[in-house]
Amino acid sequence: MAKALITSALPYINGIKHLGNLAGSLLPADIHARYRRQIGDDVLFICASDEHGTPAELGAAEAGLKVREYCDRQHLIQADIYRRLNLSFDHFGRSSSPQNRALTQHFFRRLEENGFIEERVLHQFYSHTDTRFLPDRYVVGTCPHCGSGRARGDQCEACTKTLDPTDLIAPRSAISGSAELEVRPTRHLFLRQTALAKDLERWIETRSGWPPLVTSIARKWLDEGLQDRCITRDLSWGVPVPKPGYEGKVFYVWFDAPIAYIAATQEWAAIELEHRDWRRWWWEADHVEYLQFLGKDNVPFHAVSFPCTLLGSGEPWKTVDVIKGVNWLTFEGGKFSTSERRGIFLDQALGLLPADYWRWWLAANAPEGSDTDFTFERFAREVSNDLADTFGNLVNRTLSFVASRFGLVVPEGGAPEEAEWQVVQALDGHLEALRRYQSACSFRKAADEIRAIWRLANRYFAEQAPWTTFHTDPNRCQVVVRTAVNLANLCSIVAWPAIPTATEEVFRAVGRKWTVPPWPRSAAEALDLIKGGEVVSVPSVLFKKLTHEWAEEQRIRFAVSERPC
Ligand code: 2FM
Ligand code: ZN
Repeated sequence: MAKALITSALPYINGIKHLGNLAGSLLPADIHARYRRQIGDDVLFICASDEHGTPAELGAAEAGLKVREYCDRQHLIQADIYRRLNLSFDHFGRSSSPQNRALTQHFFRRLEENGFIEERVLHQFYSHTDTRFLPDRYVVGTCPHCGSGRARGDQCEACTKTLDPTDLIAPRSAISGSAELEVRPTRHLFLRQTALAKDLERWIETRSGWPPLVTSIARKWLDEGLQDRCITRDLSWGVPVPKPGYEGKVFYVWFDAPIAYIAATQEWAAIELEHRDWRRWWWEADHVEYLQFLGKDNVPFHAVSFPCTLLGSGEPWKTVDVIKGVNWLTFEGGKFSTSERRGIFLDQALGLLPADYWRWWLAANAPEGSDTDFTFERFAREVSNDLADTFGNLVNRTLSFVASRFGLVVPEGGAPEEAEWQVVQALDGHLEALRRYQSACSFRKAADEIRAIWRLANRYFAEQAPWTTFHTDPNRCQVVVRTAVNLANLCSIVAWPAIPTATEEVFRAVGRKWTVPPWPRSAAEALDLIKGGEVVSVPSVLFKKLTHEWAEEQRIRFAVSERPC
């Protein structure tokens, strides 16, 4: 049995994420995990909240809470939202876990023993008003590149350039607003990525199946020359640095966050009485295929920095095989932004519509080759066409027909004829293509195939028109109805990774008690699964149509920069 380790980029703890985060990492990872389970692979799907660094400290300060308390609360809120979105993590852990502290310190010690850590003195902002150093986002000011007045010490959101706090024009403290900043020396530790460049290059050459976007970002970093990386910060919240002279300092959030993929697996393995072994996935695990799902801004950390940590340890850790990095989802022509509260946040999305609507649209429009723009108008039109008019309609009209004409019992008369064989043949082609696209994590193309299967099933039912043969040719009518019931079931099986809630309703309606619907071995077998004599039920309407008026109302409601209540 093939083993697939799947991780989704760890969402920052500071507040509820938006649809862009769902589209970029969480959803594609979930769809792939579900598909791999369907084809019988042994899957471990891991995620966690990313709880360290300035986002957590600043979020806690804004909420007026201690950081630990803030993180405890936010973790539960996020976990609940992901449950409602039907994300099928085997474990949703926390980067602030004891496991991650121990493991991060372990990696540091190994890197130090192997000569890859170097001490340097940096000059950083110290705030007299706040009596502390101000790393990264603790400093705000004017961007030296684009002039935006709202640049942060680590990055300018307006032009996306990465920054050092001392690059900012008119810098001031993000905590107190004080401009009384002094540049002071402070000691920090660097990971000598320059010394690992050759190993990294050799490792990258052994990777295949990375999308061009990912390879080009990784190559750019190598071609421009790897830089050594500062892995410590003057903060109190984080993993403490286990080295004399570094009391009161912690590791940089981007050093410990990817290590939390492993630590969250250790959390999963520590759940009592399950007897799970995390090493099977991470230690001397060449037989495991490891896939990471993330947005393009995260690519350098996964293709360069984290591999440097793993390779530099000199230990047999599993490194990533496939990085699925995607472009941005934009919102009505602009950027989604957590800090500016622009876009649709996941709690709002779930308040508007059940998860499957969002999951389908984001899968069918995955920002793979280029950015995708979300507009309410397009969303409403496409989900109405695909989910209400095509998939939902097929299920409803088929099962309603069984109810009204056959008292909910699947009819057993007749035998397949030319029309059924043609359907089987066409379906075999679609199933093969769909399997190819799902295996390659090509989500848009996979959605195209699923839609094509739904349309084919609808066409079959309309053309064979069993209502016309009900009295004149009962056997013909019955074989068509039986085939249509099986088609509705097959349409649900193939769509389950994208729309698990609605498809599971269909499985219940046709008497299937699957936790994971198995991938069909062939179309012929799939259309002969539900036999004459079996009893079905009619589910309530699976999807409603979203009108132009609805879309317009939402567009106006979300057009303000503040989040609506
Ligand atoms: O960009 C982000 O949202 C980060 N929190 C992703 C971290 S991924 C992993 F390395 F932890
Ligand atoms: Zn800028």
